[in-house]
Amino acid sequence: MDVAELVARFSTALASTEGEYAHKAAVGVINELKDDLDGVADAMSYLTGSGGNALQAFYRSPNLSLLKVRFPDGRRTPPHNHGTWAAILVLSGSEKNSLYTRNSDGSLTYERSLDLKRGSVIFMPEDAVHVAECTSDEPAIGLHVYGGNVLGVERQMWDPDTLKEQSLDWSKYEDLAQRASAASKAPLT
Ligand SMILES: [Fe+2]
Repeated sequence: MDVAELVARFSTALASTEGEYAHKAAVGVINELKDDLDGVADAMSYLTGSGGNALQAFYRSPNLSLLKVRFPDGRRTPPHNHGTWAAILVLSGSEKNSLYTRNSDGSLTYERSLDLKRGSVIFMPEDAVHVAECTSDEPAIGLHVYGGNVLGVERQMWDPDTLKEQSLDWSKYEDLAQRASAASKAPLT
């Protein structure tokens, strides 16, 4: 498999699906890819870098973004949403995802945490808020699939210390991510 095939499989699946069911088509492709985790990893191996997931996007369109995301040991995101549905296929390493509900006043309520390892899939609806963190010595590497243009949709992030909601601004994201990573655990957990 090469990266063009990866893009084509998702694009083709979405093109043949009505909008509100697009996420099911994407998850269907992800479940097929579970049989070839090394092939997916090889197809994305040319993408270097770490951390800020927007920097590792290799395909963006109005209804689909595909990213390789690499979280090294010790890295934790601030709480954030995606402005659209999102799904993750873990290729190597392991990560914990803490899930939150956004209340009408912008505050967060912690819901639950999921431990993901190689081959795990997590699907998040549009209103989901989460924190992802690497829980392995080796980096947690995953294929992240979003139902929109990851750099074009309005998104929110929350300060990991104050839990104040703000628009996701990549120029401010790294400061929040570093403070989130320095904490002993995800907020409210
Ligand atoms: Fe995320």
